[in-house]
Amino acid sequence: EEWKDKGAAVEKRREVDANGNVVVRVVKRGVRDFNFGRTLGEGSYSTVSYVLFVLAATDRTTLKEYAIKVLDKRHIIKEDKVKYVNIEKNTLNRLTQHPGVVRLYYTFQDERSLYFVLDLATGGELLSTLKRLGTFDEECSRYYAAQILDTIEYMHSRGVIHRDLKPENVLLDDKMRVKITDFGTAKILDPPRTPRHEGDPNGVSGGDTGDSIEESRANSFVGTAEYVSPELLNDKATCKASDLWAFGCIVFQLLAGRPPFKAGNEYQTFQKIVNLEYEFPKGFPPVAKDLIQKLLVLDPAKRLKIDEIKSHEFFQGVEWGPALWKRKAPRL
Ligand code: ADE
Repeated sequence: EEWKDKGAAVEKRREVDANGNVVVRVVKRGVRDFNFGRTLGEGSYSTVSYVLFVLAATDRTTLKEYAIKVLDKRHIIKEDKVKYVNIEKNTLNRLTQHPGVVRLYYTFQDERSLYFVLDLATGGELLSTLKRLGTFDEECSRYYAAQILDTIEYMHSRGVIHRDLKPENVLLDDKMRVKITDFGTAKILDPPRTPRHEGDPNGVSGGDTGDSIEESRANSFVGTAEYVSPELLNDKATCKASDLWAFGCIVFQLLAGRPPFKAGNEYQTFQKIVNLEYEFPKGFPPVAKDLIQKLLVLDPAKRLKIDEIKSHEFFQGVEWGPALWKRKAPRL
């Protein structure tokens, strides 16, 4: 019952029937429509840990490649994660019009599992690239930061707070462009402002009624320690500005090679956050430092707004909007 596939994506195929009439047949995708390939990841990286694994898969008819998240139904029920699965599906169904969000194409199920058919991000996690290189220079940091910010702006405009932004949740596609993932802990703010079925060339429909979202969860969730905002720790409240705190932490990490707030355990990390206890490494670019100091501000109301971040000197010369997603990635 819980898994009724409201708003599931379908493909519409034009066919000619026995009388020579053109008919549009709605085709629902299922497990048998895909050839499954290599494993892209295993459950542990997901904060809410209900994902069994992520597999690369190819649509047998179109040969298009996807990443398919496989979720174990029994585990989800046993661990009481039904809510998170619904949130992930509802938020993804609301965020289908931007290149910076991993797109959900289809969902289906069999007796044992749920399947989320997603954009394949062949470049893997931004974190892996950063770890391999240690740090990014200013140009690379600006390139990735700009795409992350543009995506946050889109998510917020659609009434979604991600609440667990971090370099593990920033994937990269084959052109090294950002694709944000892992919306299981997101929060949907207001009812959808656009009709449930937006004009959508790929036939993904809404289904984002938001009816399975419980307000209470806003006060119980804690994301990944290093990126958690002070307002969540102090007031158990998150807001759009909480994503911008995490954004500040990410920009710091790209340039410094480590997050600003990190300690031996979660409690000590939280202490550092609420006391704004962090230091820039020697030689940290001064313009980036200025931006981060205006993002890592304890009072969320005093943090830079997205427009102010976009016009900050650190992003000077960046062309925002669609042009941002046509730029060639700088050499790492
Ligand atoms: N790992 C988790 N999600 C993924 C995706 N969409 N593409 C590639 N690897 C992933």
